[in-house]
Amino acid sequence: MQSTFSMLKGAPLLPIIQPKSVNEGLHLAEAIANSGLCNIEVVKRSDAAFDALKAIRQQFPELVVGMGTLLNRNHVFEALDADAQFLITPTSSNELLDSLIASGAPFLPGVASPSDILMAYQKGIREMKFFPAHLSGGTPFLKAISSVFSDVTFCPTGGINGDNANDYLALANVNAVGGTWMVPAKAIAQKDWTAVTRACKQSLSLFDEVAA
Ligand code: 3PG
Repeated sequence: MQSTFSMLKGAPLLPIIQPKSVNEGLHLAEAIANSGLCNIEVVKRSDAAFDALKAIRQQFPELVVGMGTLLNRNHVFEALDADAQFLITPTSSNELLDSLIASGAPFLPGVASPSDILMAYQKGIREMKFFPAHLSGGTPFLKAISSVFSDVTFCPTGGINGDNANDYLALANVNAVGGTWMVPAKAIAQKDWTAVTRACKQSLSLFDEVAA
């Protein structure tokens, strides 16, 4: 099973974007690339998502771009058709995990409880998305399960922001954090792509502080 975390470039930050159109997706990708961030998760929450991902992959080959919010086998195949480099799900089922494994692509299945983690663990999966992180117990949860699943690492998302991202990144079982806070909805609504770049740069500087 290919490691998703090892393919992420630069800082372990994963901006999550929900483009409403291909054009919006391309502007967002450009704004993120201009900040120095290298990774993007495009979530499948609009009709434009697959086309936006495909266009971003073609125009920004220097970025590492995956697809999230995949809920079933068809979504997994559609994401691969759109040239997603990694796959992310918000939650897990037997069928979904089997589809992810069969895809051969790197992936992070969503987990929110010890039983979710065990289901994925029993299939040999050691990298997972912890979602919704804040509502599911946040950093205390991750600390509590670290001794039980000592070889599992997580990308927490859901409720992560500039104030708590470093608390998550400081944990040994956290390899990256994701979220929409790096791409503020207000800036997107105003098509203020410079403000998106600024917010991404701010996230990057927070990470630089913790890495220093
Ligand atoms: C996700 O898909 O992980 C979440 O929607 C991101 O949650 P956030 O908006 O709280 O960052």
